[in-house]
This record gives sequence, structure tokens and C-alpha cells, in this order.
Amino acid sequence: MADFVGAVDQGTTSTRFMIFDHGGNEVARHQLEHEQIMPQAGWVEHNPIEIWERTVAVVRTAMQKADLSASDLAAVGITNQRETTVVWDRRTGRPYYNAIVWQDTRTDRIASALDRDGRGDVIRRKAGLPPATYFSGGKIQWILENVDGVREAAERGDALFGNTDSWLLWNITRGSHVTDVTNASRTMLMNLETLDWDDELLSFFGIPRSMLPEIRPSSDPTGYGVAHVDGPLGGDVPLTGDLGDQQAATVGQVCFSPGEAKNTYGTGNFMLLNTGTKLVRSENGLLTTVCYKFGDAAPVYALEGSIAVTGSAVQWLRDQLRIIKSASESESLASRVPDSGGVYFVPAFSGLFAPYWRSDARGAIVGLSRFNTDAHIARATLEAICYQTRDVVDAMAQDSGVTLDVLKVDGGITVNNLCMQIQADVLGVPVSRPVVAETTALGAAYAAGLAVGYWKNTEELRENWNESQRWQPNWTPEQRDQGFGRWKKAVQRTLDWVD
Ligand code: G3P
Repeated sequence: MADFVGAVDQGTTSTRFMIFDHGGNEVARHQLEHEQIMPQAGWVEHNPIEIWERTVAVVRTAMQKADLSASDLAAVGITNQRETTVVWDRRTGRPYYNAIVWQDTRTDRIASALDRDGRGDVIRRKAGLPPATYFSGGKIQWILENVDGVREAAERGDALFGNTDSWLLWNITRGSHVTDVTNASRTMLMNLETLDWDDELLSFFGIPRSMLPEIRPSSDPTGYGVAHVDGPLGGDVPLTGDLGDQQAATVGQVCFSPGEAKNTYGTGNFMLLNTGTKLVRSENGLLTTVCYKFGDAAPVYALEGSIAVTGSAVQWLRDQLRIIKSASESESLASRVPDSGGVYFVPAFSGLFAPYWRSDARGAIVGLSRFNTDAHIARATLEAICYQTRDVVDAMAQDSGVTLDVLKVDGGITVNNLCMQIQADVLGVPVSRPVVAETTALGAAYAAGLAVGYWKNTEELRENWNESQRWQPNWTPEQRDQGFGRWKKAVQRTLDWVD
């Protein structure tokens, strides 16, 4: 058995390749950003060719940094930004259009029409998702309706759809058109019980079945094909893990038992609660999704609270308001004041996702007085990240009856000590970050390694998890209730804004 396992993490802002050893320790990594293309308000696109070229570059560079060759890797996993939609030509491998990103809201009318004639409830029941611009189905429909020649190509069987996992697997293997259950569960097209594409759901969007990839487990010894010898890995390494990035982070955080949850802080926040083999349907605005399926074992499901804007609100302070020069400055600026001075910021830039699902909501900063400064705005931004998480944690407790003893966190903003302290204060439970904070890539590596026997079982993976830092709540229950009550009032303002 080779000594290491690799993982491609194709995210919203960048692509990285990481190499891990048996202890789950990082051996090497390389990461490159790609362009965020915003042709008009509400539209967000990526160039799939650029993403593939970046993938090739990060794999080669990380392998060189570690001085490894293909034979040193027991397996490689892939994890990806979910929902983001690529449609390409099977004959040439060229995309017909840019990738339409999960944050893109151009399909607002497609999504809202679904709730006017009962189709929305069928999607909720079969796919576990509320109809929303977020998911892939409407994005595929938009490409079929708006890009010349794609409808005809799809009917001939030449147009293929994939999220970026499928797009990269197609390129790495030179022709394997596959995805995994977790990615497929984000399309509004897969039936959560059969784990197969559903003809009724496909008919809602006018999508021919021939466009869709084969759905495989998330950890699979043979299902995704083998890396082409002339590809970036430089040898025929088995590709044996594929999961959406938030599910991968759940695996990387070793949340293998029902009731275990993790919260990832990226451009948005995504909290997943393992509900075991039980499919729990949310009554409080959460998604039901596949958490993972390892080989022939039964699928494990999760409840998910998806928050569209958290880290990207900090980027907004940097790029639009320009009150900080780097994301890390949000901590020093917010630390200049003991509280937000009565200011509440609801960053509903893409509408509001969980638990509200209101694409018409718009952002608001409320409670301002002349006393307030940029420091209060920065603090209110960090608080917004934490209050949105509280909304989701409360919805999870109502849906599942599970109350958290501790919140396991990962992702970029978890290096912000002030934000993590506020998170503990707002929730009233401790917050815990692991030593290996790259849980997304690690989870994809775990799925790949389990498939080839590099790791024997999930118990072995649990032994790799170690805490690096823990934040204890300091606020009194009165402070917590008062702050959250005001947050709820501020949210209401963003929902009332549009007539
Ligand atoms: O559902 C969207 C999510 O998968 C994006 O994650 O980390 O690429 O922003 P990230």
C-alpha cells in the first residue's frame, strides 16, 4: 500500500490539492484562486476551463513540493462546491456556457414558479429541498432555455451536466461521467429514498435523463474510473472518493454518529447534523440531504442549515465599504469596541437561505446612531455570522430534538478568535476547532482511503481527530436572549423590505 492519500478540493473561490498521511496529517498542499465573473447583479459565474487548468496546476505543484509521484498515492478523492452547474459537449469536452455558481439568483422566476402549482411540495417530499435558486435543477433549465443549441444537443445526447466534481472527474479520467449521492442530492432532481434521478422531478425542469451523470456512492473502489496516465497525477491513481464539500467536512470532522454536527465557515456557513440512516424531514427550514454513502453500506442522511453570506460579508467590508484591508483586520477593528453599540447587520445579499428561504429579502444595517463607528459595523458583521448560526442551531434542535453539547467548527473564519468567542456567547455552548482545520479535503481523502483499505474503518479515523482550541460561553442568559431578540427584529426588517 502506498504511503499517502490525495484530495482535490474544488471550492467557490479556489481549488487546492492536499496530500495526507495515515494520521490525517497534512504532507503538502497547493492552492490557486479563480475568477469570480459577475456579468450583472445577482449573476455569478466561473470559467470551467480555468477551473480545470487550476486543478492541473495545483495537483502538479503539490506533488512536486512533497517530491512524490503517482505510485506514492494509494488513492485520490474529490470534493467540490456543490450545486454549481457545468454543461459541456461530450464530443469536444468544451463547456457550452460558464459554470453557474450556487450563489447565482438568475433562476429566481424558475424557482418561484415551482411553488405556485404544487411542484414545490413534490420537490420538498422527494428531494428534501425547498425550491430555490441555490440548487442545480433551475440552473440546468436556464442553460437549456437560454444558450443556443444546448436543448438540441441535450436531446441528441451530446450535452452533459455535472457539478464541478463531475467536470473534474470527466477531465481527469478522460470520459467518465459520474457523480456521488451527496452532490446529486443538491440538484432537486434526485429522489432521496431511491438515490436515483427521478423522472417526475426531471420533467419539472425539462431535463433529459441522458444529460445526467451516473450516481455512485461517496466512497467507491471502482465507480469513478482511474486517473489517466497523461493527466496531472502522472499515473493511473485510483479515484475512489467523491463528496460535496460540506459533506466532506462532516466526514473530516468524524461526525459519524447520529446527533454529531459540524459548522463550516466559508463564503457562507453550512451546518450539517448527522441523522444516521433515518431521513428526517425538516419542518423548520432546513434541508434534508445525503451526508455520505460508503460503498455498499446504507446511506447516512443529514439535516443541513445553509447560510449564503458569512465570510463574504467580511469581504464586503474589505472590498465595498473598504473599512478593513484584509479579512483578518475585521478582528482587530471589531475588538476596539466592547459590543456592537446597538447595531445589527443582516447580510441578506442573496436573499436569505436557512431557515427563511426568502430570495426577495435584502440586506439591512439597523439600530444606527451618530455614536456608531466602523468598529461597530465590523463587530455587527461578526455577530451576524454567529446569529445566523444560532438561527440554524435552533431549527436543528426543533427538527431533531438534538441539543448540542459542543459545536465543532472549521473553515477560514475560525482563525478569528473574537468571532469564535462571540459564537460561543451567542449559542451558550462551547465551540471547538480541530488541529487539522482543512476538514473538507481531509474528508475527501478519508472517503478515498476507506475505499481502498488505506484506512480500515471510521473508528480508525476518529483517532485522528484532536482538538486545537475551545471557546467557552461568557454571556449571561439575559444578554443572550436580548441580543438574539434584537437580531430577530432586524431579520424581520429585511423580509419586510420588498413590497
Ligand atoms: O453549497 C455551497 C457550498 O458547497 C460552497 O462551499 O466552501 O466552496 O464556499 P464553499
